[in-house]
Amino acid sequence: MIPISKPFIGKEEKAAVAAVLESGMLAQGPRVAELEQRFAELCQTKHAVATSSGTTALNVALLAHGIGPGDEVITTPFTFIASINSILYVGARAVLVDIEEETFNIDPALIEAAVTPRTKAIMPVHLYGYPCDMDAILDIAGRYGLDIIEDAAQAVGAKYKSQPIGSFGTACFSLYATKNIMSGEGGMITTNDDTVAEQARMIRSHGMKRRYYHDMMGYNFRMSDLHAAIGVVQMDRLEEFSARRCANAAYLSANLNGVTVPTVREGYDHVWHQYTIRVSGDRDAAVQRLKEAGIGTGVFYPVPAHKQIHLQELGYGEVSLPVAEKLSDEVISLPVHPLLSQADLEKIVYEVNQL
Ligand SMILES: Cc1ncc(COP(=O)(O)O)c(C=O)c1O
Repeated sequence: MIPISKPFIGKEEKAAVAAVLESGMLAQGPRVAELEQRFAELCQTKHAVATSSGTTALNVALLAHGIGPGDEVITTPFTFIASINSILYVGARAVLVDIEEETFNIDPALIEAAVTPRTKAIMPVHLYGYPCDMDAILDIAGRYGLDIIEDAAQAVGAKYKSQPIGSFGTACFSLYATKNIMSGEGGMITTNDDTVAEQARMIRSHGMKRRYYHDMMGYNFRMSDLHAAIGVVQMDRLEEFSARRCANAAYLSANLNGVTVPTVREGYDHVWHQYTIRVSGDRDAAVQRLKEAGIGTGVFYPVPAHKQIHLQELGYGEVSLPVAEKLSDEVISLPVHPLLSQADLEKIVYEVNQL
């Protein structure tokens, strides 16, 4: 079976974890600080704050921006549920705006109509590693005084018009095991805002600046040095991993027939966390046929957020977002990870072209 994703764990990752174990200092420490510095460099931001997951990064970022009950955050329904849950955790309302059929990302032409006096932020999700239309989003945010909290969980290393994703406001990354680079579990917040960074550091660690003096209520959302040590090694691999993903995606797009392949616009540097096609027939049958042929696939995501049970219970039953609903029935993500061989790519093309 060609897996849909495969974490790369080399001898360097193993040695880095062993070194932390030998140091006897396993919790947040120097490796976390090093990983934060590497992310700040990558995203060209003043600050980076590590957390225990992408989900806790989003939760902390929203709290650090002072978003809470009575506030609204505009985002996409076509995302991993953590984007939406993070807004719900802080007591705010997620206002869902439909997506662009071509890019799978939030449709900037529909955002302005969703702005109300309660809107505090826009959360663009760079789905599959493909940047959102940031010029349009920055324009609306600027005109209405809204914060931008990028959900960059899938988009480490991506760029929009040469500017790193992660530098357009406050941004959150995931270092979950199957992400383009990983630390097993982990998250990272990047920002140029001194106050947001300071708040985020406190919120992730029980509201402490000084040990056992709690200026506010916080959480334990810290990353451990064991995890950070893996992340630091993976940072060194990011460029090569991204280049391989791009080459694999280019091969697939050049050779697949009979399905809709992903669009990449000029100035958008995609990092191909997922390579997602659309099929016009029975998607689930196509997934099954590929499985029988030895090709692992993923469906990201089969149910848009507003159709999930817990959102239905929160009153999203009347929400209609036709593009997201349609695409959730059509998408299939194919393997694009850096460990694919040429034979794997040829097999994927052959089998998909038989569908
Ligand atoms: C778009 C998106 N947002 C948020 C997250 C949450 O990250 P984590 O799984 O590290 O909590 C993910 C992870 O899959 C994601 O894909």
